[in-house]
Amino acid sequence: MTKATIDDIDVAGRRVLLRVDFNVPLQGGRVVDDRRIREALPTINALRDRGARTIIATHVGRPKGHIDRALSVVPVADRLGELLGVDVPVAADVVGPSALATVEALLDGEVAMLENLRFEPGEERNDAGFAKRLASFADVFVNDAFGTAHRAHASTEGVTHLLPSVAGYLMAREVEVLTGVLEDPRRPLVAVLGGAKISSKLGLLTNLLRRVDGVHIGGAMACTFFRAMGAGTGRSLVEEDMVDSARALLESARAGSRVVSLPIDVVVVDEPVAGAAIEVVEWDAIPDDRIVVDVGPRTVAAIAASFVDAGTVIWNGPLGIYEIEAFAQGTRGVARALGDSAAYSIVGGGDLDAAVDAAGVSDRIDFISTGGGATLEFLELGRLPGVDALRDRDAVTT
Ligand code: 3PG
Repeated sequence: MTKATIDDIDVAGRRVLLRVDFNVPLQGGRVVDDRRIREALPTINALRDRGARTIIATHVGRPKGHIDRALSVVPVADRLGELLGVDVPVAADVVGPSALATVEALLDGEVAMLENLRFEPGEERNDAGFAKRLASFADVFVNDAFGTAHRAHASTEGVTHLLPSVAGYLMAREVEVLTGVLEDPRRPLVAVLGGAKISSKLGLLTNLLRRVDGVHIGGAMACTFFRAMGAGTGRSLVEEDMVDSARALLESARAGSRVVSLPIDVVVVDEPVAGAAIEVVEWDAIPDDRIVVDVGPRTVAAIAASFVDAGTVIWNGPLGIYEIEAFAQGTRGVARALGDSAAYSIVGGGDLDAAVDAAGVSDRIDFISTGGGATLEFLELGRLPGVDALRDRDAVTT
């Protein structure tokens, strides 16, 4: 990566503002999935070991500039403290008197956390005054929040104008792995794309089609492609206004000799609820009164077969309504095949890590991105504002 990291600066005895993405699911005041926290530990521990005074800042949820106690970072700091084996004090505000006192009390090698950045209206507006108050706490800014790097907010972009700004290890690794897929993948490069909507993935699809050797499409968005090919889709979710784009995409893939594989069989139900009777039908024989909820077993086998010779596989988006056990079989089957494959495997995009966990193959996937929207945008554009704002390695003088 061309950006400077914490290895390029001296942090001993200095106050470091560390932006992380600890936007993790909370339930009953506890963190239910701590992966984003665990993934930031190498950076936090390196800063502690080197004697930095680390001020950790994150957003949780979308409180839109208002204080919402249900979105306090306290449970997040508690979980971080458990993982680090130390107490992580939390300021009662973001840039107010409590934050100032918390920062001033920090000793070398200690960490503390600010309250939810999005309790402040200036955060999402990238307000210069708010960025200045945040930056005033620190000598150095470290951004390890890859998952938020697609947002040009005060804590991801604004502060970089005021402090020497470098990447943490997680940020650096995410950028390196995803850049590698785009620029120099081990081939053949196979992509698997699922999810509900083409509209949110059109840019990604267009960019990936130029780079991959083959792409499999699943999830509800496959139905929009079926419609583009003139097939009936029953009562399934179809983005009517995207049918022409889907058709154009298939035509351009054909013209460029790219292989776009759509499901050959699908699972259909009367209603997409747990306990519904399921039936597997051919892709072009979806009954008028049914709804597609998953890819079928022959499709899973075809996707798995393409992994056998693949050099790299990148997967974004579930292939069915995986939150309901009976409709998760396609996603699980592909996850298992990916775990068994010798290809360099990358899973990117929010929802999928839980599905891969449920399939019991997380430890056999080479890289699971911590980003959702950020991963999508990086794969589409090859850059993110929160990354661009960091210093280049050769420009670091601190
Ligand atoms: C995410 O979970 O994708 C990031 O934390 C960004 O959250 P946001 O979509 O609310 O900006």
